[in-house]
Amino acid sequence: MKVIKAANYDELSRKAAQIIASVVWNNPRSVLGLATGSTPIGTYKELIRMNKEGDLDFSQITTVNLDEYAGLDPSNDQSYRYFMNDNLFNHINIDKNKTFVPNGLASDLSAEGARYDAFIDSLGGTDIQLLGIGHDGHIGFNEPDEVFYKATHEVKLDAMTIKANARFFENEDAVPRRAITMGMWAIMQSKKILLIASGDDKRDIVERSINGPVTPKVPASILQCHRDVTVIYTY
Ligand code: PGA
Repeated sequence: MKVIKAANYDELSRKAAQIIASVVWNNPRSVLGLATGSTPIGTYKELIRMNKEGDLDFSQITTVNLDEYAGLDPSNDQSYRYFMNDNLFNHINIDKNKTFVPNGLASDLSAEGARYDAFIDSLGGTDIQLLGIGHDGHIGFNEPDEVFYKATHEVKLDAMTIKANARFFENEDAVPRRAITMGMWAIMQSKKILLIASGDDKRDIVERSINGPVTPKVPASILQCHRDVTVIYTY
């Protein structure tokens, strides 16, 4: 595991974007695993800048996102599909037909999970997976649990996650209670994993994830078992 301390959020965003850009430069047909949340916004801004300046071409890139709320239409401005369009896809030369987010409207979320995993497999997996980390150690929406769930699956969101995400909604009650998330197979099969964390409130969980025991009680700790992980943090 490579652990990099950035001086501040801008430097974290620049470093993270450079790592993603190198993957794209190496293989313009790469499959990128992407994440939502406030932490990657600066990284996406950097990627947009590089694309606008002609240094980075997304025309042949495919993307798969980690997760989506259950029951939110893609046109809902709180859906993760909307977030990705708004914070990245609308501003770069990517073919939106090659950008994928789990379908949170599927009537059978288990079947949707199986379909999503088979689809990722059919792409040959992801070349890089970008991750944020929750205060409870979640990656995607894999919340602390008794086991690591392998498949893309439906989850009930933790009280801590609902509270943390309430800032994006009118109030806490408006936060969906369920979501669909990539499981550990789809995350861990990626050739390269990039985890970014910003803010003093993430210090403790980042330390526990990278130096503590590997346990489903701290979902991000599983990353210690992957052979190519970079963690960039600032706090
Ligand atoms: P944040 O969320 O980037 O908004 O802190 C991270 C996460 O919950 O995965």
